[in-house]
Amino acid sequence: MHATYPPLDSSRIVSAAVTGAFSFTGRAIAEELLRRGESVRTLSRADAPDDPLRRLIDVAPLTFEPATLRSSLAGVETLYNTYWVRFERCGVSFAGAVANTLELFEAARGVGVRRIVHISVSNADRADDLPYFAGKHQIEKWLAASGIEHAIIRPTLVFGSQDILINNLAWMLRRTPLFLLPGTGDYLVQPVSVGDVARIAVQTRAGVVDAAGPDLMSFAALVSMICAAVRGRARIVSGPRSVGLAINSIVGRLIGDVIVTADELEGLSRSLLVTESEATGTERFVDWLREQGPRLGRSYTSELRRNYRADVRDPSAKPKVFSA
Ligand SMILES: NC(=O)c1ccc[n+]([C@@H]2O[C@H](COP(=O)([O-])OP(=O)(O)OC[C@H]3O[C@@H](n4cnc5c(N)ncnc54)[C@H](OP(=O)(O)O)[C@@H]3O)[C@@H](O)[C@H]2O)c1
Repeated sequence: MHATYPPLDSSRIVSAAVTGAFSFTGRAIAEELLRRGESVRTLSRADAPDDPLRRLIDVAPLTFEPATLRSSLAGVETLYNTYWVRFERCGVSFAGAVANTLELFEAARGVGVRRIVHISVSNADRADDLPYFAGKHQIEKWLAASGIEHAIIRPTLVFGSQDILINNLAWMLRRTPLFLLPGTGDYLVQPVSVGDVARIAVQTRAGVVDAAGPDLMSFAALVSMICAAVRGRARIVSGPRSVGLAINSIVGRLIGDVIVTADELEGLSRSLLVTESEATGTERFVDWLREQGPRLGRSYTSELRRNYRADVRDPSAKPKVFSA
């Protein structure tokens, strides 16, 4: 990925702008739109000249400076927003992420973008004590009051190629003789494929829709299934969450990443990554796992390296290099 951008022809009408098309969910949304014959511009912190998607889409900087945003969004009909941060670190805060998102939406309104499709999270309105969820809730409320035509998509736990969380669980289960489930492990998850999230985002015209897959399982079952799929030999045992966090923090320090945060474990333990509505996703996690098992978790994907390096955050700085 390179932080220089080709000149943008802002007089060009582009049917969709997608934040993060060189990353995870944004990539799937861009691909879904292209399949449907739409023209796509991505807003990203860096260009990716070697990415096969690059020759099919325009690219503009994802910086939250109003004039730059307005020029990036000029001529766009629908904005698909995936921008968010996983945790606070390196000067990135949830309050900042809320402010940035609203700056993005104001710029979209300012240049006449007709509709915003915003990727939120399942149960965004049920955990205001957890800053990740509280920020998502704040943005949902802002959109609802904005008068802007919009849809809100709330994914549960997203799986697919280039995901971080499930890949890194698999990475650990491949290597460790013992895996500690934080707490009882009986809290629920309902994984949804990134392709389903993209399809739901592109199909939904308005309203708030959960993106959740057809398989509902306990976190303990999810871990066991991943372990079996990657032929891990880890003994999976339950233990206090504080011990799980301490182990993750030590391993995280050794490999230079934040593997999981206390708030993420709290969200998991409250079964927030499920829906009470009908499943809207169709791709089964078990099928995907069977197919991906041999490849999953072979290398570690660093959240800090992907999303928190200074050169990624500053598009005028050096190229970002991925090396998992
Ligand atoms: N992954 C999941 O399991 C999951 C579950 C529920 C909800 N969601 C929501 O789905 C959306 C997409 O998630 P994702 O996992 O696909 O995210 P992602 O691809 O890692 O990132 C999405 C966008 O946010 C930007 N970004 C990420 N971290 C950043 C940071 N630290 N500082 C500045 N910008 C940052 C990325 O910039 P670049 O374009 O430069 O890469 C990209 O445009 C998010 O709103 C997330 O909250 C995800």
